[in-house]
Amino acid sequence: MTSHLASADSIPSLVSPAISHGLIAESSPADSPVKLGILASGSGSNFEAIAQAIKDGKLNAQIQVLIYNNPGIKAVERAESWGVPAVLLNHREYNRREALDTAIVQVLQQYEVEWVVMAGWMRIVTPVLIDAFPDRIINIHPSLLPSFKGAHAVEQALETGVKITGCTVHLVRPEVDSGPILIQAAVPVLPDDTPETLHARIQVQEHRILPQAIAQLAATSTLASRHPSGD
Ligand code: GRF
Repeated sequence: MTSHLASADSIPSLVSPAISHGLIAESSPADSPVKLGILASGSGSNFEAIAQAIKDGKLNAQIQVLIYNNPGIKAVERAESWGVPAVLLNHREYNRREALDTAIVQVLQQYEVEWVVMAGWMRIVTPVLIDAFPDRIINIHPSLLPSFKGAHAVEQALETGVKITGCTVHLVRPEVDSGPILIQAAVPVLPDDTPETLHARIQVQEHRILPQAIAQLAATSTLASRHPSGD
């Protein structure tokens, strides 16, 4: 895994907007950190990238809570190592998507979350969640949207034979993998790629653009929009 990441990082990529060297820390350290809630279903490497960007002073934010739906995932270990509370909301225990989302909203509000980051959250979300955080939920997806929506984006890119794919950070809307695009990064598809090697190359870029997108949102997030109810 590590070697995939190392070799993938040496392959040219294109990021929009251009961030050729590290992140652009756009929010002033004097501003209070943006309070993030992160939703994850798997490895949590994007959670880790966000935590590292905060630690490195490249992102003026604070991770309030990790919500996860699959017991035993690596994301929980990562949260523990960063001292972030991890809350299990197992979707198998809810009979409707709306019921799960209601529970998610309750936890996010309990932890005073301002922005929600779906970082490998493999559940379809409903207006119950989306309307509780209007224009304050973002998602990372492993393709250049609108191509290859859904859970098998990397495999579909390989099957289709595209020569360039990538990843997208976008605001979340009720339709899956839609919503205004914030940042994209493109990577080449190599002739001998497998889903694993291609995904590893895409994830190198995910780990750049997701913290960057949050930094941009934090910079544009006025006090009013961070506290829309005026509290
Ligand atoms: C990422 O590739 C993301 O684009 C997709 O799920 C994957 C999560 O990876 N939605 P990780 O759990 O952050 O390592």
